Amino acid sequence: MNKTVLITGASSGIGLNFSHKFAGSGHDVILVARSEGKLQTLSNEIENKYGVKTYVFTSDLSKPDASKKLFEEIKAQGIQVDILINNAGFGLFGEFEQTDLSKELDMIQVNITALTELSKYFGKEMVKSKKGQILNVASTAAFQPGPLMAVYYATKAYVLSFSEALANEWAPHGVNVTALCPGATKTGFSDAAELQSSKLFQSGVMSVEDVVEEGYKQMMTSTKTVIVPGMKNRILTQSIRFMPRKMVTSIVRKVQERV
Ligand SMILES: NC(=O)c1ccc[n+]([C@@H]2O[C@H](COP(=O)([O-])OP(=O)(O)OC[C@H]3O[C@@H](n4cnc5c(N)ncnc54)[C@H](OP(=O)(O)O)[C@@H]3O)[C@@H](O)[C@H]2O)c1
Repeated sequence: MNKTVLITGASSGIGLNFSHKFAGSGHDVILVARSEGKLQTLSNEIENKYGVKTYVFTSDLSKPDASKKLFEEIKAQGIQVDILINNAGFGLFGEFEQTDLSKELDMIQVNITALTELSKYFGKEMVKSKKGQILNVASTAAFQPGPLMAVYYATKAYVLSFSEALANEWAPHGVNVTALCPGATKTGFSDAAELQSSKLFQSGVMSVEDVVEEGYKQMMTSTKTVIVPGMKNRILTQSIRFMPRKMVTSIVRKVQERV
């Protein structure tokens, strides 16, 4: 029997590519996002191309009851989730006094709360059955504060810290927890975050295929807890550890600014 993978944010970018990657490797996939049309198209494409089973669940994870509802609907259909990919997320660019608070609260709900709830619901079952894998998509943003995207960077710091702690708690129970920390990647993310003209996204981004390839390979074949795709990103995340944090924060601000 195929293993079943639940992927949030499957309608585009990293999640869409993970959906192809897992399905192409013989996994059944549960596709979750808000865009029903995109998910249906992806579902048909995957079933035709790889011959695996797909399930589509339309869910707005910024709604407080959405994660619990999603878990209950999946249980009601008798589906067992073997691998959980908490990928759905978004950012927002701007000075904090000018940005839209409601978007930031939605961001905390999607990037942090939904990810935590889904890890709890599905993780508890994995611990009980003594097997399972959770991949939480953090970011290189997790490693330092991010002026002009203050809330986004802070949400990703949470994801990294939470994932590392869970990995430690659940390793003895046979459940692997990993944080994937991509740097700037070519997806719909920069449009959604209004980041297209920031120096960061102008200075070279990784392809989404390379990010997913590296994330998938390391997650499935190593016991690494933190995966940073791309040599440049690995060097950056390591080198800042030896610099004063205030200096790192100023550098991040410069990189975030628009050209
Ligand atoms: N691209 C980068 O440079 C980069 C770098 C580091 C980390 N990341 C992280 O990678 C993850 C995926 O982002 P991406 O780059 O692939 O961006 P993307 O192309 O914009 O995809 C974001 C995905 O999240 C889903 N999503 C957003 N809000 C949602 C909500 N309220 N409820 C349910 N699903 C929602 C979107 O689906 P719908 O719109 O259909 O709901 C979409 O499938 C995010 O966690 C992001 O923070 C991205």
